[in-house]
Amino acid sequence: MKVLVTGGSGYIGSHTTLTLLEAGHDVLVLDNLVNSSEESLRRVAELTGKTVQFRQLDLLDEAGVDELFRTEPIDSVIHFAGLKAVGESVQQPLRYYYNNVSGTINLLRAMDAHGVHSIVFSSSATVYGGLNPFPYIEKMDIGSDNPYGRTKEQIEDILSDIGAADERWQIALLRYFNPVGAHPSGRIGEDPLGIPNNLVPFIAQVAVGRREKLMVFGGDYDTPDGTAQRDYIHVMDLADGHVAALDYISRHPGVFRWNLGSGVGSSVLEVLHSFEKAVGHSLPYEIAPRRAGDLPAFWADPSAALADLGWSTTKTLDEMCQDHWRWQKNNPNGYSS
Ligand code: WQD
Repeated sequence: MKVLVTGGSGYIGSHTTLTLLEAGHDVLVLDNLVNSSEESLRRVAELTGKTVQFRQLDLLDEAGVDELFRTEPIDSVIHFAGLKAVGESVQQPLRYYYNNVSGTINLLRAMDAHGVHSIVFSSSATVYGGLNPFPYIEKMDIGSDNPYGRTKEQIEDILSDIGAADERWQIALLRYFNPVGAHPSGRIGEDPLGIPNNLVPFIAQVAVGRREKLMVFGGDYDTPDGTAQRDYIHVMDLADGHVAALDYISRHPGVFRWNLGSGVGSSVLEVLHSFEKAVGHSLPYEIAPRRAGDLPAFWADPSAALADLGWSTTKTLDEMCQDHWRWQKNNPNGYSS
């Protein structure tokens, strides 16, 4: 199939683009490069020996998006493009709603106008909010507690309503947990702009000497070692989940929700120690106050994805850290190395 991957030069987008190409799909990447580098796509082409079509375009450019669907024979869309920093979304809610929700509406209107009704949407475990018991299950009520998460919820609602109104739509809503790791080649990986918000890229930058030490946000949670637990998933397993979901909806019209997670919680200190094993020595850290808005623990119930898609995670936390470290060690300054 010819798949449009919005946000395809980003971290998860580039790994999914590589996996789509290796599965025999043709890929056209749309990205505005606000948070990523086109170098990732050059490396995906190098790794796969395949051509990656790229169009620098913002989903807010309504005419440009419509022209793309008018001129390119697109069969399906995997939609990653969006702003994704929780803290930033609290400071800049209107920017997040405009970029994420209005951009998605532009995409969906262009798809519908040109007869494209198949979409895999990059949602997030953050939609479950803090009120649900874990492990999280897809049928649970959702209710995020930050603007970023609410943009994901609103887009899920839009897609659900579209699917209910028009049976031509084939829609997968994928709720990611915590993606980490990198392609085993070490040629593509996570390259956050500025100071990393997320745990593993921050640890990786400590390991490569770009950051002085890890601040562990909270050592007094009601967890086995006092640090918060999350469900970490290797980005290659996540990419495989997207290809499996794309294949499933190509055979099943309707709206489907799947958690993409391991179903296992790992604490901050467990992740740090796993990364230290990959690096081969200890890394400096300090127990700091809790980060506002953080939950003590949550992880996925991934059984629906296994039952419907035959998909489950395959890689361990140690493999995630080994692959993440290989990328960071080989690219100390990311794609601008
Ligand atoms: C993980 C744990 C931190 C950094 C976020 C978004 C979520 C999704 C994934 C987009 C927490 C602790 C972190 C640090 C630390 N993104 N930590 N020191 O918060 O679970 O989820 O990223 O979809 O929407 O909310 O991930 O990696 O930021 O934090 O101690 O320097 O690591 O407190 O317990 P999180 P994270």
